[in-house]
Amino acid sequence: MEHFQIEGGTLLEGEISVNGAKNSALKIIASTVLTNETCRIENIPAIADVLVLLDILKEMGAEVKLIDRHTYEITCAGISEPNLPELLVRKLRASVVLLGPLLARFGEVKMPHPGGCVIGERPIDIFLDGFAALGVSVKEEETHYHFHSNKLTGATFVFPRVSVTATEALLMAATLAEGTTTLKFAACEPEIEDLAEWLNARGAKIRGAGTHTIIIEGVKTITGGEKRIMPDRIETGTFAMLGAAIGRKIVITNCEPSHLEVPWKLLRQVGVRFELGRDVVTVHQSPHLQAVNLVTHEYPGFITDLQAPYTVLMTQAKGLSLIHETIYEGRLFYIDKLNKMGARIIMCDPHRAVVLGPAKLYGATVESPDIRAGIALVIAALLAEGTSRIENIYQVDRGYEAIDDRLRQLGAKIERMKES
Ligand code: EPU
Repeated sequence: MEHFQIEGGTLLEGEISVNGAKNSALKIIASTVLTNETCRIENIPAIADVLVLLDILKEMGAEVKLIDRHTYEITCAGISEPNLPELLVRKLRASVVLLGPLLARFGEVKMPHPGGCVIGERPIDIFLDGFAALGVSVKEEETHYHFHSNKLTGATFVFPRVSVTATEALLMAATLAEGTTTLKFAACEPEIEDLAEWLNARGAKIRGAGTHTIIIEGVKTITGGEKRIMPDRIETGTFAMLGAAIGRKIVITNCEPSHLEVPWKLLRQVGVRFELGRDVVTVHQSPHLQAVNLVTHEYPGFITDLQAPYTVLMTQAKGLSLIHETIYEGRLFYIDKLNKMGARIIMCDPHRAVVLGPAKLYGATVESPDIRAGIALVIAALLAEGTSRIENIYQVDRGYEAIDDRLRQLGAKIERMKES
């Protein structure tokens, strides 16, 4: 087990490049199952979650060729049995993204109950209802789900609430179904638009991705092709919060600022000084921060994955801010750790916390509960006076590639230590 040792208090300066988006890469990689042809995918982030998904495909019989650190060629012709390997699936909740493509291709999947992040109850009822609408029967056995369909058939499915991965799973399944599928109240995150564009370039017929109504005309086959993963909007936003909290001048490159319109609006209200370019964001030292309330929301609202870094920023802003996490009930589990570092935050209920700022933070030993809280604790430690030890950094590595090396380039005093 490794941990980060961080000496806080140094202003950061320099350029940091944004990697490919984890939450796009996972779905694009899963979509390679829809064809026997080779898919070449570039800009794949070298992070734990993606590597586990590639291992799952390999174990199922796919050929996964590493071309360079961020490029893979994947050929799924060798997958003969649609059984997801238990150990790997338990490691990665996002393995549910394989359900859609596997059902489309084999009409059957056996999947152990999924694992993943500890951010509250994460049911898969919407997937189950959606697949049932397409003609899939689902049996829940003690250790796994057994999905089966003689023929996937297009249908209209109304989501009871917005779900990103369920939208993507149904979209992929419907691509090879017979007839037309209409998904209503679908999620409209940029990653979904990206997935649809990629599938359309390979023969799919999908309209409306990026809106709440997606119409998919089933086709017989999907071909291989080449794809570059879009920039990670969560990294972009996280680095912006880092810059606002402890930067002298941070230039965030290779990003897509248009995917973060609501976060930019909020950061302007907070008093963060930044400029947006076409694929670059420059964040300047921002000494006068004002507390502004946050409500997380589905896209294009303020993304839940930036809520924890924003809370750290609010510890440095003047006044009271209410943080309202509406998507997950387990995403404020880092608040006690920030308080241990000197923050003054009151938990109101599992969804809401009030931050009183500004507060001086001090180094402490804390454990990351999940990916996004993990990076927030890293930012807090960089702000804090003294030395911090961040434990359970596997969680941070799940989402941010070599973050210690990249932060050191900005002047951060962060070391990855082996457990002593
Ligand atoms: N939900 C259900 N039933 C379902 C599916 C979801 O009740 O069958 C609920 C969830 O429990 C949650 C809400 O619906 O309360 C929204 O969940 P959603 O399905 O949209 O989330 P997700 O698809 O599982 C993706 C990202 C998350 C990101 C959310 C919200 C991936 C692999 N994961 O999760 O990313 O927070 O959308 O934008 O794309 C992360 O990267 O750290 C992460 C957790």
